[in-house]
Amino acid sequence: MKMRTKSLLLAACLSLSPAPAAPAQSFTGSGVAPATAANSAERAIGFAASAPAGSALVIVMTDATLPPLDGVTLNNAERQAVSAAIAAASFDGKAGSTLSLRGIGAHPRILLVGTGTTPSSLALAEAGGKAAQELKSEAHAVTVAGAYGDASAADVAYGFALGQYRFDRYKTVDSKAPATGAVTLVGANPAAAEAAFNNRWKPLAEGVRLSRDLANEPANVIYPESFVARVRDALAGAPGVSIEVLDEAAMRKLGMGTLVGVGQGSPRGSRLMLVRYRGAGAPDAPIAFVGKGITFDSGGLSLKPGAGMGNMKGDMSGAASVMGAVVSLAKSRAPVHVVGVAALAENMPDGNAQRPGDVTRTMSGKTIEMVNSDAEGRLVLADANEYVAKAYKPRAIVNIATLTGAVVGALDDSYAGLFARDEALSARLLAAGAVSGEELWRLPLHKAYAERMKSDIADIRNSATGQGPGASLGAHFIGFFVDENTPWAHLDIAGVNRSEKASPLVPKGMTGFGVRLLDQLARSGD
Ligand code: BES
Ligand code: ZN
Ligand code: MN
Repeated sequence: MKMRTKSLLLAACLSLSPAPAAPAQSFTGSGVAPATAANSAERAIGFAASAPAGSALVIVMTDATLPPLDGVTLNNAERQAVSAAIAAASFDGKAGSTLSLRGIGAHPRILLVGTGTTPSSLALAEAGGKAAQELKSEAHAVTVAGAYGDASAADVAYGFALGQYRFDRYKTVDSKAPATGAVTLVGANPAAAEAAFNNRWKPLAEGVRLSRDLANEPANVIYPESFVARVRDALAGAPGVSIEVLDEAAMRKLGMGTLVGVGQGSPRGSRLMLVRYRGAGAPDAPIAFVGKGITFDSGGLSLKPGAGMGNMKGDMSGAASVMGAVVSLAKSRAPVHVVGVAALAENMPDGNAQRPGDVTRTMSGKTIEMVNSDAEGRLVLADANEYVAKAYKPRAIVNIATLTGAVVGALDDSYAGLFARDEALSARLLAAGAVSGEELWRLPLHKAYAERMKSDIADIRNSATGQGPGASLGAHFIGFFVDENTPWAHLDIAGVNRSEKASPLVPKGMTGFGVRLLDQLARSGD
């Protein structure tokens, strides 16, 4: 007995490998998981030359003047009534403004939504999202009109799709949203508007929905293995896609001590999922998007306090948004080459969990003193970055992760934190943020941080002691595992992956932050 213990110990010390495999590679959960159910039906989105009779009317306004409208019948008396209401309410058509009118002619409702003058694509989308939310419990079908062209109608439709999202699939007692009619965008050339929508915005809205769904799902439903299954389903039939999934046995063989280590307190096995999409004419080397996919972050043995722990079901938001972006790019057949990576593990305390003070190592052999098991995101990203660099030879790597509470203190929910070692990549990311509406603010990566993360016994430690620039120290740690010659950036989305209140394109709940940004980045060329 004594001998056996001793030799086991010796083996563990020699290999610095994670503890023996958790028994279950396939796990369906103890207890009773909720039955799979559908969310309340969203409005179907269509395009037409004229308004269906009896629908609620949305008019997209750039200022206070009611424009001439294609495809909508408003007689003189009705136009006058609307104009009088605009004046009485001092409605100015600025971005974000709305005015809801009832009792005009036979229209069940007329909703004015403002974009401001010469609106961007994003401003038009926001008007669409605002309309979707205002009309959430409007039982009538909806018609949207405005004095704009076909591309703009597609922009508005896109915003409507993002704004009407909801996650209520587990409500069973009369609180689901009421059944609602379709939304039709009217204009002179509906076929052109519909093509613009289908070629870009519809796949992007689908990617955002996937990301939000994955993050909103509770952790008894989404864990590494079921995350992989959901993403496979979402990608079914998408062109140019190939999927690679490493399970624990494969990762162990490759020496991926951090990905296996973080998951070893959980019976749900870790996974590394890689999805390559290569569009026609795209370059040989892909851009890698590598997302943190902690399907639940209890903190591990460095257990988090109880309040708000439930929000840690969303600690896989980075991985979810990576996969959402790949869905968008593939389904729109974008001429780009990307590899989306999800570093998936559940961080739980258990007799088999990693202990603070444990030393593990990544695939490349670099060693880590794991001083805080709650700094787990950076650990799984270390192995994921090393693997994708070796196996896919990307021309750039972008990490996206709900990495630190510290970034929330710095940037709140207004910006995600951007850390970059490459000026060109940083500039491209900032530009993609402005265009997509998912904005970034750059934070420092100073060489002094190396000192803070030094370990006495290993190459690096996963957390510093005492106060410090927490978000930057996390970024430094991740960067330690990326070759200096590979353009690299890291996005800390801990402040933006969940919203407490609705904004036009983002209902309350998990936001899907990063899908629109990464989609835009991939399309923005070198
Ligand atoms: N997932 C958390 C970060 C987080 C905090 C996300 C709040 C969303 C909202 C992460 O794994 C974590 O626990 N980070 C620690 C790092 C620390 C131990 C160095 C933190 O920020 O406290
Ligand atoms: Zn975490
Ligand atoms: Mn943590």
